[in-house]
Amino acid sequence: MERTCFNTELSELDVNKEVTLIGWVSKRRDLGSIMFLDLRDRSGIIQITIQDSSNLSTIRNEYVVQVKGKVALKSNPNPNLKTGKIEVIASEVKVINEAKTTPLIIADETDALEDTRLVYRYLDLRRPKMQHYQDIRHQIKMAAHNYLDKYHFIEVETPILTLSTPEGARDYLVPSRVHPGNFYALPQSPQIFKQLLMIGGFERYYQIARCFRDEDLRADRQPDFTQIDIETSFLDQDQFLTLMEGLIKDIFKKTINYDVKLPLRRLPYQEAMDKYGSDKPDTRFDLFINDVKEVFANTSFNGYKEVEAIRALVIPGVASETSRKVIDELTLEAKKFSLPGVTVLKVENGTLVGSFLKFLSEEEIKGLFNDLSLKDNDLLIIAAGNKTRVLPYLGALRSQYARKLNLIKEGTYDLLWVVDFPLFEKTDTGWTSSHHPFTRPKDEHLKYLDTDPGQILSYAYDIVINGYEAGGGSLRIYDQKVQHKIFEVLGLSEEDIKRKFGFFIDAFQYGTPPHAGMAFGLDRLTMILGGTDNIRDVIAFPKNLSAVCPMSGAPNVVDEAQLDELGIQIKK
Ligand code: AMO
Repeated sequence: MERTCFNTELSELDVNKEVTLIGWVSKRRDLGSIMFLDLRDRSGIIQITIQDSSNLSTIRNEYVVQVKGKVALKSNPNPNLKTGKIEVIASEVKVINEAKTTPLIIADETDALEDTRLVYRYLDLRRPKMQHYQDIRHQIKMAAHNYLDKYHFIEVETPILTLSTPEGARDYLVPSRVHPGNFYALPQSPQIFKQLLMIGGFERYYQIARCFRDEDLRADRQPDFTQIDIETSFLDQDQFLTLMEGLIKDIFKKTINYDVKLPLRRLPYQEAMDKYGSDKPDTRFDLFINDVKEVFANTSFNGYKEVEAIRALVIPGVASETSRKVIDELTLEAKKFSLPGVTVLKVENGTLVGSFLKFLSEEEIKGLFNDLSLKDNDLLIIAAGNKTRVLPYLGALRSQYARKLNLIKEGTYDLLWVVDFPLFEKTDTGWTSSHHPFTRPKDEHLKYLDTDPGQILSYAYDIVINGYEAGGGSLRIYDQKVQHKIFEVLGLSEEDIKRKFGFFIDAFQYGTPPHAGMAFGLDRLTMILGGTDNIRDVIAFPKNLSAVCPMSGAPNVVDEAQLDELGIQIKK
């Protein structure tokens, strides 16, 4: 079809130029003898002025039209539009296709419910904001392709129909027709294959990889999502992280023209937990958790005796406006973290105030003032119990108060590595991998494999941006004996190991290079760089929080005949 340019390629330099434009009618004002259209194409909006609109009165919003005309200067410029200084005086307007009245307003601000937006996603995607997110996503991928190509990475695709991969979520299973009773699993990530590619001699692999995980959905989690997946041979942790920092720097520069300062900070996992109460801390604001156990060494309060941790968070400047109701809410929130309660005190006129005061000795009050540098109007929140409950609770409060008090400056980014994760986590029945079972234990901790797996730290790292885990990875085990041992600690029987990972362990016998890798969450990077906190905004056709696609209706029942072919009977 004839078209001379995109709308926003035109400017006042093109005045008097004859142009042909194509797009959708975004807005129409019919003044009888004269009609104005806002014509929208992918690039943006331009005003069309139609001086004889007598045969165009049926034109409605979202009609597809082709406009021929001449560029002119507008007498009253519109500062909100990129093309606001000009308009196109139409000589011919052709309706290419009509449109029904749309069920949602096609503009950045829409009052449509998200479920309506998802049902009519193709209309939702016409909104400039939604196109912007996809544009950012595309730019991230292009920056990654270019950077990784420059550093000799090669993109290799790995199977979608495969065996279960070990990222710790539930698998999506696909029944085999040819082998009734047998199932493929969709990959939770290409982890096993990328390691096999290292054994296969590729040295530097990447892939924009689709991953599938059946897990509880959240604002930053989807059942099918995308990773920028990477694996390298012969690099130590420092070399690898430096290479990845270059990539993230390029991505920020090329998408939002933001200069990331390198090298990024490396924060040990334990310090992240102790200071921020999270392994993905939002480090854009300075509220820190403090250890006050020493202060209570001789406490008379039973709840503080023989507990693993007593930690405090000080929120400055809010004590006077903290009501009884707010304090009750803090207690309720503590219960969500399985803590029996929480201590809340206020600093007034140089002293502490609150119902807990009766349990505090003069010495303890002094200790708190000294250790925490308390000032008037500080709110002091103290939680006691197991570290695994106390720290996440105070970490969550830290973020809530930062939002409430506007401590986070819009448009700022703080990036860091969290390193030295524990290799295992304790479960009710034994141990599970904190990352995945191919993560290499620190050399000096190998000795604890038989005696105390909980002590072992690993060469694992996450990249954290503004409180999001934007990516993660590790150095890998390349010694088959260590790999086998890890499977044993995880409680896998010989038979399990053979069935699930036999081919993988076998491969390690043929000259496995030391290797390391990571995966960036492409969706999360797009959220961060696009400026939204909803992952569904950055995925063209996402699922809702119940893992349903409201547009297509997936998942859905299938024909009886299809089930028969697969040898499947549905349990009622
Ligand atoms: P991991 O499981 O940490 O590591 O995933 C890597 C990154 O992928 C993103 N991510 C998700 N994004 C959206 N929805 C989800 N459900 C989801 N799950 C994960 C996160 C996360 O940091 N194979 C390893 C990587 C490696 O070791 O190389 C892996 O998948 O941003």
